[in-house]
Amino acid sequence: MRTAGFIFCFVVLGTVRAATLPLLPMSAQVQVASGTLVIDNDMRVVVPAHDAATRQTAQYLADLLARTRGLQLKITEESTADNAIVFRKDPKATVTQAEGYTLDVTPHGIRIDARDDAGLFYGAVTLWQLLTPNAQQGPVKVPMLHINDWPRFAWRGLMLDSARHFQSATDVERLLDQMAQHKLNVLHWHLTDDQGWRIEIKRYPELTRIGAWRTPPDAGHDGEPLRYGGFYTQDQIRDVVAYAAARHIIIVPEIDMPGHAQAVVASYPQFGVTGKRPPVSVDWGVNPYLYNVDDATFQFVDNVLDEVMVLFPSHYIHVGGDEAVKDQWKASPAVQAKMHALHLKDEDALQGWFIGRVGTYLAAHGRRLIGWDEILDGGVPADATVMSWRGTDGAIKAAQAGHDVVMSPSPDLYLDNAQSDRADETTGRMPVRDLASIYAFNPIPAVLSTAQAAHVLGAQANAWTEHMPTMRHVEHAVFPRLDALSEVVWSPAAMRNWNNFLSRLPAQFERYADQGVSYADSAFAPSIQTNDNVALKRGKATITLSDQAGYGAIHYTVDGSAPDLHAPVYSAPFTVNVPTTINAATFADDGSMLATPRTRVLDRANLLSREGVTLPNCPGSDFRLRIQPMPDATSMTPVYAINVFDTCQQFPAAPLDGVTTIRADVVRLERNYALAHEAKLVVSRPHGTPHGEFVVHMDSCDGPTLTSIPLPDPATSARHFSLHAMLPVQHGEHTLCLLFTAPTDGPLYAIGRVSLETSKP
Ligand code: ACM
Repeated sequence: MRTAGFIFCFVVLGTVRAATLPLLPMSAQVQVASGTLVIDNDMRVVVPAHDAATRQTAQYLADLLARTRGLQLKITEESTADNAIVFRKDPKATVTQAEGYTLDVTPHGIRIDARDDAGLFYGAVTLWQLLTPNAQQGPVKVPMLHINDWPRFAWRGLMLDSARHFQSATDVERLLDQMAQHKLNVLHWHLTDDQGWRIEIKRYPELTRIGAWRTPPDAGHDGEPLRYGGFYTQDQIRDVVAYAAARHIIIVPEIDMPGHAQAVVASYPQFGVTGKRPPVSVDWGVNPYLYNVDDATFQFVDNVLDEVMVLFPSHYIHVGGDEAVKDQWKASPAVQAKMHALHLKDEDALQGWFIGRVGTYLAAHGRRLIGWDEILDGGVPADATVMSWRGTDGAIKAAQAGHDVVMSPSPDLYLDNAQSDRADETTGRMPVRDLASIYAFNPIPAVLSTAQAAHVLGAQANAWTEHMPTMRHVEHAVFPRLDALSEVVWSPAAMRNWNNFLSRLPAQFERYADQGVSYADSAFAPSIQTNDNVALKRGKATITLSDQAGYGAIHYTVDGSAPDLHAPVYSAPFTVNVPTTINAATFADDGSMLATPRTRVLDRANLLSREGVTLPNCPGSDFRLRIQPMPDATSMTPVYAINVFDTCQQFPAAPLDGVTTIRADVVRLERNYALAHEAKLVVSRPHGTPHGEFVVHMDSCDGPTLTSIPLPDPATSARHFSLHAMLPVQHGEHTLCLLFTAPTDGPLYAIGRVSLETSKP
């Protein structure tokens, strides 16, 4: 009778309360019953005798609970059943899927059953989530429940680029910790690129003596170090690999070839095409240096891979294959002779042959090649796995041809794309990939048949770090978008529910805060908007508050004080007298703060000025990056918007009545972008003074010139400077075209802020 009643409760309460459990990703099947179980220090964690893997998982749980919950649980092999967390590996466990588990909380204790070690581990992670966040230290209650859970995909990945900017081994381990807490299982580690070689290879010491270091463009000035870089010793890599393995994460190393090879060629020019030694690159983008295709180079590649394979037990070895512009191969008589001798029709086919050769070597050593989708272009080895980044077309083509694929399309899953276009958002590419867009990602393109879809191993998000100089930037880019990804790759597709996901995020934010993770609150940050021109004219501003996710309650103040839960809740636009200061913060249903307060000062000066990052590009070129020069990059802001193809922005509807002066706060930036064949698209404008000018046109960039102010000599002026000029009297609102005519072989310029000034306040 008691048992029957218990089951009845499961069914009745299941759908109502399961959704409120703070699980991320949400488990496949959750049933909640009435009643709770208290977990305190008397509870034992019971593991089978002589089972090192299960003991490791139990230890992981105990350590995590000690660190984040203040609980001290003892691990034993006694077969005590009551008041215990019992881990049991059972080949007949209910959940049959790989990595799946069952978690039961009953009045007698907790049981986690699984058929494999990973399943037990994920059961432990789920239990930890049920016991956090940490409202208070000490005993904690969990509801009676029954969970059956398993992953939707086998490849649940994150790519970390340690080549463009370097993270310490400890930072990488912190990231692995978070991946494990999200049930992700592949760290794709981008270890080599034009800007740095980051893995110690004993046989080729120059790779790290030379290849791991670059001389920044402004070395020794303005916060730039004399050299930038670093590498992981083989001992460090072994430690990181073991740390990952203890969390059921496989590290797939990437040694990028035949392109993105400038650091290799800088270290060993004989394995490049021209024989010349370039510096390790400081240019972001696509550099021309390729590996050679001769036997000596393949011997080098094989020798490097030998050491890589010893360090990384991963079945997959990533060999890049992306963005190899073929100019050097085209220009080299030796490479051309080899191509013809091999009866290959073009350089793409030569790359196919190159990758095929490396794939054969890996296969002979029991490993499997994975590469970016360019490996499809020149005929890919039949058993190669394709990582699709140029949209999803490559994945579709590959799956239709019977290859396994991993989805990581740009920009959908590119975490270097900014997650908002707020002025206080940090560095990143445009367009914005917000939390909702990651959450909406579907790893199975609709055009694939069921059989083809079975080739989709899963998906991963990519953290390219050109514009993420510190780990704080990386964490900001990754979290909480990784929460969205985790649900995409783990939870059943039918369960995805955006609002329900959002309702579970406050708990996750508290976990982040407890663990010192610098997550982004961009999705919830209040935007404080008004029609500036109307506010200027009337002396009253109508204020609209919103947040990107449309979630939570925005509380605000208009008296300069910090908004708390007692401050008014925003429900509709309201009007205030100018000048004033609006403060707003977003709170979750449980009262926790989802986004820290944002402030907008509304006074005449601010209403007449714009931050550069808020000014749109001039028509004709959408390319847009938000970047920071050193030494600003030690913080997250300010950032500057640049378009490397055309340094031109618009100030829409500038209110020119009474304006006598324009002031531009300008920053000079390095023009370190390798644009390959796109270099011809860079707009060059005539200049009349040696370093070019800041020019203001009215109505359009072909419209009347309102002012043209010479730029100072870069050799003798500060990186940040201000320009002032009188403007001729104008009336009404006009779009201003703001552009720099600086020579395109010199520095780039960006606007920090542009301000219109009137003669009378
Ligand atoms: C890539 O983003 N070049 C794979």
